Amino acid sequence: MSALLRIEDLTVSFGTSAGRVRALNNVNITLEEGEVYCVVGESGSGKSTLALTVMGLLPHNAEVADGRIMYKDIDLLRSGPDQMRDLRGREIALVFQDAKSALNPLECIGPQLEEVILEHSDVSLRNANKMAQDMLHEMGLPDPKRIMGQYPFALSGGMCQRIMMAMALILRPKLLIADEPTSGLDVTLQAELLHRIRELVKDFNSSVLLITHDMGVVAAMAKKVGVIYAGNVVENAEVVPLFRRSQHPYTWSLLQALPRMDDPGKRIEPLPGSSPDMVNLPMECPFLPRCFKAQSQCRAEVKPKLVETERDHFVACYNPVIPVGELNAD
Ligand SMILES: Nc1ncnc2c1ncn2[C@@H]1O[C@H](COP(=O)(O)OP(=O)(O)OP(=O)(O)O)[C@@H](O)[C@H]1O
Ligand SMILES: [Mg+2]
Repeated sequence: MSALLRIEDLTVSFGTSAGRVRALNNVNITLEEGEVYCVVGESGSGKSTLALTVMGLLPHNAEVADGRIMYKDIDLLRSGPDQMRDLRGREIALVFQDAKSALNPLECIGPQLEEVILEHSDVSLRNANKMAQDMLHEMGLPDPKRIMGQYPFALSGGMCQRIMMAMALILRPKLLIADEPTSGLDVTLQAELLHRIRELVKDFNSSVLLITHDMGVVAAMAKKVGVIYAGNVVENAEVVPLFRRSQHPYTWSLLQALPRMDDPGKRIEPLPGSSPDMVNLPMECPFLPRCFKAQSQCRAEVKPKLVETERDHFVACYNPVIPVGELNAD
């Protein structure tokens, strides 16, 4: 396996009237070919900023202070707008979190889908129309012909999400970045959409950066997981070790908040406190005020760096849930 995407030391902030919002701080993520990497974290932790930075679609008030994003051997942060547009069309696709506003409001769905198909394959308009309808049908949209003649405003958010997914999958991208693609969909549709993503990986050896706040989606999809808190990756591991031996207290809390089929009487413990102010991030660990494992070292030192505690399992914590010495006990 070789890395398709390497995000190295990525640091991104936004200028606002309230000060600089530190959305991503020295983020490192490596995505291999043919694997699904899930980025999980609560609202405001920087997930969409990560997706937009990779795509070269950050708003004007954003500043990339540091880092590299290597796609194959191309540094995306140093690519010109033409090269980025070309890559976005041919190899990298994004399903936006806010699908409705990502579609062109002035054009019906049909022409938007056909345009994508015609740009990337040598087919007639008639065939493109048929391919578009088939894809909408596969995404579980009823009456594709009627939807093709409608404007985005006439459709629900969930429908727009599936249309965006159809648009992304038509391209058979080498890299798919999907930002909360299933939020707001009912469970059957969610399962169908996740199935389509898995097929893309299986059939075309594509890689997927899947952004979600749902640990259930992570369990169903991920090969690897990056847990992000206040713009910092705090834990990074393959999915099974992450669920079985989560080490960062934040990851542990996220998993405690999941209902369990095997333990229906279990009390669900919500995470106390609120997410930090991203303008005034502390020097010490940003999770400190909410952490049940906090100790004096956490208050005295600058935030911990990611350290490999077992093979391919990285944690940024001075006092992990499972002490490192006990990790290899099972
Ligand atoms: N254009 C912008 N201008 C100023 N601040 C922004 C902008 N976009 C995002 N932010 C801020 O950057 C931080 C990270 O936002 P981001 O949208 O990446 O979070 P997220 O993890 O995707 O959240 P959610 O789960 O709610 O989608 C937040 O504090 C947010 O308010
Ligand atoms: Mg988001």
